Amino acid sequence: MLEVCELKKSFARKPVLKGVSFQVKAGETVVLMGPSGCGKSTTIRCINLLLNPDGGRIIFKGQDLSQVPQREVFLIRQEMGFVFQRFNLVSRLTARENVMLALLYRGVEREKALEMAEGALEEMGLHTGYELKPAQLSGGEQQRVALARALVMEPELILLDEPTASLDPILVKEVLEAIEKLSQEKRRGVLLVTHEVALARRIADRIILMDCGRIVEEGPPARVFESPRSWVGQRYQEISQYH
Ligand SMILES: Nc1ncnc2c1ncn2[C@@H]1O[C@H](COP(=O)(O)OP(=O)(O)OP(=O)(O)O)[C@@H](O)[C@H]1O
Ligand SMILES: [Mg+2]
Repeated sequence: MLEVCELKKSFARKPVLKGVSFQVKAGETVVLMGPSGCGKSTTIRCINLLLNPDGGRIIFKGQDLSQVPQREVFLIRQEMGFVFQRFNLVSRLTARENVMLALLYRGVEREKALEMAEGALEEMGLHTGYELKPAQLSGGEQQRVALARALVMEPELILLDEPTASLDPILVKEVLEAIEKLSQEKRRGVLLVTHEVALARRIADRIILMDCGRIVEEGPPARVFESPRSWVGQRYQEISQYH
């Protein structure tokens, strides 16, 4: 479904991605981990076309994304849900309206959009507060609205970049449960950046470890966390002993 080949990106001549290659298959949950600054967000931002790579290719559902004309970028984005560290909800709209927005934009009839939005919010564990604006919701609730907003479009691939990083630890659990739930959908590919070792262990089909713009290790969570081969893997192994 997603194939990243030799991806390269520099900022002001400083190489940040030095040839990153991996795949995400339909139904697979891949967790990308690594130290701060190693290039995880840059990788995600190249995939959803927020950044132009300097080299390499990204193939999504058979299409080379570098060949997509600017006017068709939004069509690709409709098939890729994404959720970032900061919730990016529209502050003047209610939770329900935030989730409905893209559906209405896509041409879904209002009644139907309302029903779908409530279904997605409920699936993410939100049963009330649909009329509240983002500022009236807790961080965990806001992030679950953002997850519902991505999911309601039924994307084939969902990109999550540290979705729990700006949350109070007490609120993290409810968001982790929501993420675990969305990773269980059989057809969808999930690419998740997180530092949550316990979550990665539970939901990942495959862990990819990055360091300084390169992939340094890749494999199933049990192997990567229990007998790591890379320096980064060994650091995560130490952390995972606390979980
Ligand atoms: N727009 C930009 N302009 C210049 N440098 C950038 C830009 N975006 C990222 N960088 C640099 O690229 C490097 C990788 O950043 P990136 O955000 O991909 O790291 P990350 O692995 O996601 O880290 P974190 O875990 O802290 O989120 C960093 O050194 C960062 O300063
Ligand atoms: Mg990042």
